[in-house]
Amino acid sequence: MADVHLDVQDYYGKVLQTTDDLMTNACTTSSAMPRYIKTAISNVHEEVISKYYGCGLTLPLRLEGAHVLDLGSGAGRDCYIASQLVGKEGYVVGVDMTKEQLLTARKYIDFHMDKFGYSKKNVEFHEGYLEELSKLNLKGASFDVVVSNCVLNLVKDKRAVLEACFALLKEGGELYFSDVYASRRIPEILAQDKVLYGECLSGALYWNDFEQMAKQVGFFDPRVVSSSPITIQNEDAIEKLGDIKFHSITYRLFKLKDLEPDCEDFGQAVRYLGNIQHSEKGMFLDAHHYFEKGKIKAVCGNTWNMLFQTRFKENFDFIGNFETHYGIFEGCGKNPPFNQIASNEGTPALSCC
Ligand SMILES: C[S@@+](CC[C@H](N)C(=O)[O-])C[C@H]1O[C@@H](n2cnc3c(N)ncnc32)[C@H](O)[C@@H]1O
Repeated sequence: MADVHLDVQDYYGKVLQTTDDLMTNACTTSSAMPRYIKTAISNVHEEVISKYYGCGLTLPLRLEGAHVLDLGSGAGRDCYIASQLVGKEGYVVGVDMTKEQLLTARKYIDFHMDKFGYSKKNVEFHEGYLEELSKLNLKGASFDVVVSNCVLNLVKDKRAVLEACFALLKEGGELYFSDVYASRRIPEILAQDKVLYGECLSGALYWNDFEQMAKQVGFFDPRVVSSSPITIQNEDAIEKLGDIKFHSITYRLFKLKDLEPDCEDFGQAVRYLGNIQHSEKGMFLDAHHYFEKGKIKAVCGNTWNMLFQTRFKENFDFIGNFETHYGIFEGCGKNPPFNQIASNEGTPALSCC
């Protein structure tokens, strides 16, 4: 493990100085962004932006007042966006192991607090290994949202990180994160390749291994928010990787003890009230669920709980209960993320559950 830490620290601390130094486009973000996120990014210092190596949009809706933890926060771009979204009452904690990245992130705390008009800071950065989060004295069950952007693939003991996340989240909280996933298990020989590993490719999990691991840890119903193919624009890498395909996937995993392994039908429905800032016309829960304002929509028990037992409770009317079970939720099927169309905005890619 120590070797992997050193190699990754070397890659993100010394080999890469800015996004332009990346050899492939795996650690870059291609998804479209809502305007309010673009505005928030425009307030972030240019040096922080230049050292951004994320692969997705890891900032869910309704963060006002939330306590957010960013795992592998790098130079701090997502933390400083979150700092604006959580507001003065919220708080953001970033964790990373690479000194150079932390140096950039910490250098601009005062700059950003001034820019956002905050009299006291609402962001802090901790140095540490994600496999050893318990050493950082973060309070258990204290975070509303854990985010992470293109990091888990770089970690050897991925299960340890998921378990720590689960322990740090409040009940009803969520892990909302983007990472690189592979279409099949990656041979160990490729994982030894320092460039392929550093570029967020050969440490990636096969997506179904990730989903099984998430369920075993207690995140029973992982939901894909968006999924988009990564086109590796590097001949060497393409040759070495052969037929393995990669996607950048954003998952949302709620910590809810009542979730079931499958989507079950209890005859329930919800109606979105249109009262989430930046999403007044409709709200995306995931790539399968778009809730148009005012329209009643049938949902399975798990989706109901993801709205009723979380920070979204005030944003919906809830119709029904769990008294009668009507069987499996109709139309509910397994849609592997590699078959899904990237979508967390605009028209939903798929309907139903
Ligand atoms: C691809 S970069 C992404 C950084 C940041 N999330 C962003 O979007 O710019 C991966 C980051 O994860 C950090 N990292 C990787 N493995 C780690 C580990 N085991 N513990 C702590 N940080 C880790 C690296 O230091 C690096 O800053």
